[in-house]
Amino acid sequence: MELQFTAEQEAFRQRVQHFAETEVRDAIPRMEADGEYSFPAGLVARMGQLGLMGIPVPTELGGAGADFISYIAAIQQLSRVSAAVGVIVSVHTTVATLPIMKHGTKEQREQFVRKLASGQWLGAFALTEPNAGSDAASIRTSAKYEGGCYVLNGTKMFITNAGAAQLYLTFAVTDPERGTRGITAFLVDSGTSGLRIGRKERKMGLHGSNTCELSFDNAHVPEARRLGAEGEGFAIAMGALDGGRIGIAAQALGIAEAALQLLEEGLLKRTAAGSGGGRVRRAAELAELDELSARVEAARLLVYRAAYLYQRGNACTKEASTAKLFASDTAVEASGAAVRLLGREGYSSCYPAQRLFRDAKVTQIYEGTNEIHRIVIGNHLLRS
Ligand code: CAA
Repeated sequence: MELQFTAEQEAFRQRVQHFAETEVRDAIPRMEADGEYSFPAGLVARMGQLGLMGIPVPTELGGAGADFISYIAAIQQLSRVSAAVGVIVSVHTTVATLPIMKHGTKEQREQFVRKLASGQWLGAFALTEPNAGSDAASIRTSAKYEGGCYVLNGTKMFITNAGAAQLYLTFAVTDPERGTRGITAFLVDSGTSGLRIGRKERKMGLHGSNTCELSFDNAHVPEARRLGAEGEGFAIAMGALDGGRIGIAAQALGIAEAALQLLEEGLLKRTAAGSGGGRVRRAAELAELDELSARVEAARLLVYRAAYLYQRGNACTKEASTAKLFASDTAVEASGAAVRLLGREGYSSCYPAQRLFRDAKVTQIYEGTNEIHRIVIGNHLLRS
């Protein structure tokens, strides 16, 4: 059993860390600028040049040809600096590009994966609807087959990357009588007439990452843009989310590590300045730091165990849910402790702790709320 990166994975991780610490860090003030919530288009283009928009995609299809573990390490490193950039890459890669790699025809892979993996196009995943979030099977967006095309009608919401993306992996009902087996996946490009990008959400965190509503009003999608067979959409979505949730778990791990580092540095600085607040308070803070450090280490092991299984092609639904559940709770806990214990450097918006806290919260909510992950894990335990 090996619990360390190969030399190649470590070299890649260091390259991404350097990029995150320089170019991504420089972009944070623009992403956080009051009321702007500006999408970092230049940074995304740059990540395309560096091969970061197609990390686990073979070079023949325009990707970097690295493995899934390297990809997860990259999401972790990007998210240590900016969770917004982490989620842009995670959604684009695991729930938009990889499902096309897995389920697409040769033509679809050639046509779409190449553009996505090279960063020429950005991908999004359109499943959630105003009345269908946790219960993904109850989506209402319909797709009716008419003369070589599917005609889509309905509304999607909370769609990450929307507005900036050129490709929307969209799920719609082709047969309402068949429940989860009546849902089909479609590759909808942003130029499709009848597709409208709606209101951009103003969010407490993840400024820089776009989240919009989408509406389909008689949007005609050619039959050749159907991904998989009719009725396979739900299984395609759930399979994509297995990988996606490992990406979000890595994002949460990055946030938790950054918060822990801030806490360590802040408490050290306070001790050196002799303003530690007394022996008892210092002992309590050290105990909390120890506890958090153990949780972060455990989250790291869960994230990489899930990534390892995914990379080997093993079933990993339960492990992905476990990693996402634990890492996201750890991110909220660690960033909350940073806000609480670092005084002015915790609560003031001039310092990064409060941004980590705001960004961490959503990792408990998207790609399945943690309540859903407890159900997924529980169902697997009762089945085994
Ligand atoms: N892989 C492949 N197939 C799967 C699967 C998986 N991981 N999980 C389930 N399926 C298949 C089942 O085998 C079953 O197939 P059959 O009909 O052939 O037997 C079918 O899907 C239905 O399975 P369930 O009965 O388990 O489905 P359910 O209706 O009970 O739903 C659920 C289960 C887990 C609660 C699901 O609704 C769910 O995951 N909800 C959360 C939705 C979610 O995560 N949304 C994320 C939106 S995207 C996002 O957040 C991106 C972002 O912005 C960052």
